[in-house]
Amino acid sequence: MTTAPLEDSAGLAGKRVLLVIGSGIAAYKVLDLARHLRRAGASVRAVMTPSAHHFVTPLSVGSVIGDLVHSELHSLTGEAEMGHIQLSRDADLVVVAPATANLLARMAQGIVDDLATTVLLATDKRVLVAPAMNLRMWLHPATTRNVAQLKRDGVLFVGPMEGSMACGEYGPGRLAEPLDILEAIRDALRGDTRVPLPPGVTGRPPELAEPSLPLAGRRVVVTSGPTQEPLDPVRFIANRSSGRQGHAIAAAAHAAGAAVVLISGPVALADPPGVDVRHVETALDMRAAVEAALPADLFVAAAAVADWRAAAPSREKIKKGDADEPPELRLVRNPDILAEVAGRAGGRPRLVVGFAAETENLLANASRKLERKGCDLIVANDVGAGSDVMGGASNAVHLVSRLGVETWPKMSKAEVAGRLIAHCATLLDSKP
Ligand code: C5P
Repeated sequence: MTTAPLEDSAGLAGKRVLLVIGSGIAAYKVLDLARHLRRAGASVRAVMTPSAHHFVTPLSVGSVIGDLVHSELHSLTGEAEMGHIQLSRDADLVVVAPATANLLARMAQGIVDDLATTVLLATDKRVLVAPAMNLRMWLHPATTRNVAQLKRDGVLFVGPMEGSMACGEYGPGRLAEPLDILEAIRDALRGDTRVPLPPGVTGRPPELAEPSLPLAGRRVVVTSGPTQEPLDPVRFIANRSSGRQGHAIAAAAHAAGAAVVLISGPVALADPPGVDVRHVETALDMRAAVEAALPADLFVAAAAVADWRAAAPSREKIKKGDADEPPELRLVRNPDILAEVAGRAGGRPRLVVGFAAETENLLANASRKLERKGCDLIVANDVGAGSDVMGGASNAVHLVSRLGVETWPKMSKAEVAGRLIAHCATLLDSKP
């Protein structure tokens, strides 16, 4: 359990949270959550499912949030004062707590049969879900399927945790503690919380539509960050990649109108908003995630994939033992994801871009890599001593293609990303 100080309003002051309260014994804890939110300076509106009224009353919720609680889809006053669309849009984040198995199932299927599910389908903001149910209901394959679907749809989850249940059983299914939900809300509110419409749909009449974006209608897959290759349950081989350049490229591709999948190794960065982020640890996981994310128009391999992994990671922690002899470590090669994608016989992305981080003979090595890996473009950067590229905020790169080398001045990684994406959009437009 986290112990965020109650008065800590960082990230919450002035934010608007729409609480969707489902029916469950744990609904009373939502009063506590609402209290913390208000104390941290957030404004809270609430929608209750009809059966949530059995567990907590609109009056008690209303008195904590200082507002009317909404329950009826077709309530005339409700619709006159605030339509369900407006209710769902006038929030920075929608939080569902407790989310019952039934509510998760209706969300996963897009079923709309009350105000809560209508708001959830109509919202243009991120949705954070805190499930609570009996452990068999949580572990049931139907719920597992629904949760997986919702995660694919971009819905965020906090909990459930393991513990004693109202029904007397013990296991996973307890609602996360209010302070943990508060932390998850803080995380979910980072950046732009709007969920973009699919490429090409503006939601505005044509005369008001923005000019079309350079990657509108394109699909882009980006790898980013390091990989971690386990030696045993607590140790791994990794590298200094921060993921900043790869994440910036994914964000730039999204801003350019593409549908973007970002496959990220372990990094300390927030997921770029609007990007479908898939988190992986090892090179083998990354390769599987890339395979699952293809086909794409553009593939950018910005990850620093570990070249080797332990041949046989130990299931148990390797002991120091009494002998002085250190353990032998046998390594095997990891797949070269970039070379595999570039060499695909069917379904090769039209443009395949790799990175070359070199400490010597930068351009010669980059051109050799272009040929060896079969990609269309190599972004080469010097990571030798004295450069702050690995983990730093700026980058000085050369674009190496079969047409020659283009050298860019030192600039921020976000600028490199923006220029690279603009360059790729031009190449894609000119490629047959
Ligand atoms: O061979 P090297 O690691 O220098 O190549 C770097 C480029 O290849 C980067 O674009 C990196 O993302 C990609 N790569 C990969 N799979 C590997 C090794 C590198 O996709 N196993």
